[in-house]
Amino acid sequence: MNLILPSLALVVGTAQSTKIPPTSEWNTLNKTVGGRLFTAKPFASPCFSDFAGLPAASNEAECNTVQENYLNTTFRSSQFNNFMIPIWESCMDTDQQCALDSSDPSNPLAFSDLPCYQGSVAPYHIEIETFTDVQAAFNFSKATGVPLSIKNSGHDYLGRSGIPGSLALWTRHLEQISYNASFIPEGGSHSFPAMTIGAGVPWQDAYSFADANNVTIVGGYDQTVGASGGWVMGGGHSDLSPVFGLGVDRVLQFKLVTPDGVYRTANAYTNSDLFWALRGGGGGTFGVVLESTTLVEPTTIPLQVASVSFDATGTNSSVDFLQLLTENSLGWAQAGWGSHMTLSGLVSINPLLTLDQARESMQNITEYVQSQNGSVVIETLPSWYAFFVKYVIPSQSPIGIDGAIATRLIPASVFETQKGRNSLVEVISNAAPFLLTISAVTPFLFNYTENSTSVTPAWRDSLWHVVLGDLWSWNTTTEGTITAFETLNNLTAALTDIAPNSGAYMNEANVYEPNYEQTFWGSNYPRLLAVKQKYDPEGLLDCWRCVGWKGENDSRSQCYLKVD
Ligand SMILES: Cc1cc2nc3c(=O)[nH]c(=O)nc-3n(C[C@H](O)[C@H](O)[C@H](O)COP(=O)(O)OP(=O)(O)OC[C@H]3O[C@@H](n4cnc5c(N)ncnc54)[C@H](O)[C@@H]3O)c2cc1C
Ligand SMILES: *[C@@H]1O[C@H](CO)[C@@H](O)[C@H](O)[C@H]1NC(C)=O
Ligand SMILES: *[C@@H]1O[C@H](CO)[C@@H](O)[C@H](O)[C@H]1NC(C)=O
Ligand SMILES: *[C@@H]1O[C@H](CO)[C@@H](O)[C@H](O)[C@H]1NC(C)=O
Ligand SMILES: *[C@@H]1O[C@H](CO)[C@@H](O)[C@H](O)[C@H]1NC(C)=O
Ligand SMILES: *[C@@H]1O[C@H](CO)[C@@H](O)[C@H](O)[C@H]1NC(C)=O
Ligand SMILES: *[C@@H]1O[C@H](CO)[C@@H](O)[C@H](O)[C@H]1NC(C)=O
Ligand SMILES: *[C@@H]1O[C@H](CO)[C@@H](O)[C@H](O)[C@H]1NC(C)=O
Ligand SMILES: *[C@@H]1O[C@H](CO)[C@@H](O)[C@H](O)[C@H]1NC(C)=O
Ligand SMILES: *[C@@H]1O[C@H](CO)[C@@H](O)[C@H](O)[C@H]1NC(C)=O
Ligand SMILES: *[C@@H]1O[C@H](CO)[C@@H](O)[C@H](O)[C@H]1NC(C)=O
Ligand SMILES: *[C@@H]1O[C@H](CO)[C@@H](O)[C@H](O)[C@H]1NC(C)=O
Ligand SMILES: *[C@@H]1O[C@H](CO)[C@@H](O)[C@H](O)[C@H]1NC(C)=O
Repeated sequence: MNLILPSLALVVGTAQSTKIPPTSEWNTLNKTVGGRLFTAKPFASPCFSDFAGLPAASNEAECNTVQENYLNTTFRSSQFNNFMIPIWESCMDTDQQCALDSSDPSNPLAFSDLPCYQGSVAPYHIEIETFTDVQAAFNFSKATGVPLSIKNSGHDYLGRSGIPGSLALWTRHLEQISYNASFIPEGGSHSFPAMTIGAGVPWQDAYSFADANNVTIVGGYDQTVGASGGWVMGGGHSDLSPVFGLGVDRVLQFKLVTPDGVYRTANAYTNSDLFWALRGGGGGTFGVVLESTTLVEPTTIPLQVASVSFDATGTNSSVDFLQLLTENSLGWAQAGWGSHMTLSGLVSINPLLTLDQARESMQNITEYVQSQNGSVVIETLPSWYAFFVKYVIPSQSPIGIDGAIATRLIPASVFETQKGRNSLVEVISNAAPFLLTISAVTPFLFNYTENSTSVTPAWRDSLWHVVLGDLWSWNTTTEGTITAFETLNNLTAALTDIAPNSGAYMNEANVYEPNYEQTFWGSNYPRLLAVKQKYDPEGLLDCWRCVGWKGENDSRSQCYLKVD
């Protein structure tokens, strides 16, 4: 066991007073976790011949593989040493990165004469296999003061799956999935059709498994987001959520190790306070989840699909289309549609209507799009999986590119008045160059039991989750990045003005959300904080704008820029 301590000393060089444990302690930890403790350098490091100011051997073959897969979501998520958005691999505050040019990963300007820095990529990680690995990590962190981070797919938009100088718990290899037609939560008596999913399983695997078992699972619009990690703990929306609820509404049970070292089951009967907190309080906060069990629909469900698009450049048609979206959205929500919309089209699905009803429900949008010589497809597909393969995979959001988002949940009441619709049209039109998607994914028809989850109650009466975003490039200056974040703050403020009493989805929020406790959790925050203090009294787990966050002066936050 050869531990490369000098490099660790370098990588934590900027950390405030984290004492580096001696090799012997790492070796002991490695033994406890069955030899699954590893060191890592950032994803693009094989391309660089300078590591943190010292000469390092680049590796052409490995560099080529990284270049070829720089934007490949499946490849990225199979490796520990990266995040989907490369800014989270870097240390923005000290302008230290190890990145390629995402517009041309072979561009030598990005790596040939520049150093690679460890940034926010954890220098050590454990490939988690069992709950005792997690217990060992908590013991180690308590004894040494080394901070812990938890990484699954690395999709987090607020960079919470990486902490500089941390020991990371990588859950990606918890890949087991099973289906039980009559699952009973421990301590309960009712049975449910349910899938139990390890905390490393990406949605694409959960979907193909569900399809093979002829059941429908409600999950995200993405291949590689994890089914049992941050997605479900933060809320978890799906195009099926308008009818079947959010991820937090459907989860039946978690198995996790809480920071007090205890391996627990959390469900409606056992540790129910913890269960409530895990249903919306966020990942990385209450413990390390090893698996979750979630309700499935016992059959595959045919879906009506509407896919329309037209060329909206050079005319005012995008505003006309947006106006139509605001006028139709309430009716569509009542009919059970879930949608991803832009100013030049939409892709929507509906599990409740017949094909004829779907055509009628979409009629005035299809007429409009036809008047613009656009394309209209309204069809029936046999299952969510068929939809996923035909529509979701080909429209994969860009990854491997630097950027961030600004979002807000827009209440149904805004859509009920002309004044409300006009304000929405105005704000979104003004922000048009930044619009990524308008997601109509709120649980509008779902019969929610009040107080059963800890997501902001704003989810329950909203129609839209508006997502604005800004992208930048590998060589944007620190000043340029700060300006981009300030732009996102301003965009967030404009959305907040339309819906001041609403909230935002904690998993897809502005990194610098000013009033995050209220915005992410609303009236649930005080109770969430109490649960956090009960199960993690020493604050062993902490992350950016999470429940109980220690704040931006804590060393864990050292790589975030200071942005007002
Ligand atoms: C391209 C893209 C598409 C997306 N699509 C959707 C979508 O359709 N619907 C939706 O709701 N969201 C979507 N999201 C947002 C997504 O829900 C969040 O990024 C979420 O945090 C991802 O969780 P993860 O576990 O996969 O990722 P990670 O970044 O690995 O983890 C996210 C957070 O959860 C913590 N965490 C992860 N695993 C565990 C665990 N086992 N125990 C405890 N804490 C853990 C991490 O520490 C981190 O704080 C999307 C994001 C991206 C980038
Ligand atoms: C941990 O032990 C395994 C197996 O002996 C070894 O391959 C690995 O390199 C060790 N990890 C570290 C960080 O030394
Ligand atoms: C992306 O990576 C995966 C996993 O390595 C690989 O199977 C797939 O072919 C790659 N896709 C592309 C487009 O290169
Ligand atoms: C963690 O520490 C506790 C208390 O010292 C000990 O009982 C337990 O065996 C340790 N667990 C692991 C996996 O190291
Ligand atoms: C399904 O769940 C029930 C109740 O919890 C349990 O008795 C049964 O063994 C499970 N079946 C399988 C195949 O795991
Ligand atoms: C799923 O349905 C198909 C077609 O009806 C059938 O052939 C298959 O055996 C079913 N699979 C399971 C696991 O029930
Ligand atoms: C909600 O409950 C009502 C009344 O029980 C029922 O008619 C309706 O179908 C339910 N909605 C959904 C989406 O399950
Ligand atoms: C777009 O709208 C503006 C303001 O209403 C108007 O001045 C302009 O002529 C319109 N352009 C087109 C191409 O219709
Ligand atoms: C669109 O269709 C719905 C019925 O589906 C109707 O109520 C509405 O008035 C139509 N027109 C507009 C502009 O939304
Ligand atoms: C649509 O096509 C017709 C026939 O080619 C053309 O006359 C019309 O101007 C086009 N409309 C738009 C909005 O492009
Ligand atoms: C939900 O919780 C709030 C306090 O947080 C309480 O006022 C309300 O009565 C609760 N509702 C139900 C149905 O328990
Ligand atoms: C970034 O690099 C590109 C070439 O890849 C160059 O054209 C551009 O001027 C650079 N921008 C900055 C801010 O240095
Ligand atoms: C954000 O808004 C403030 C106040 O209107 C303005 O002074 C500032 O220039 C804006 N920043 C950016 C980057 O748009």
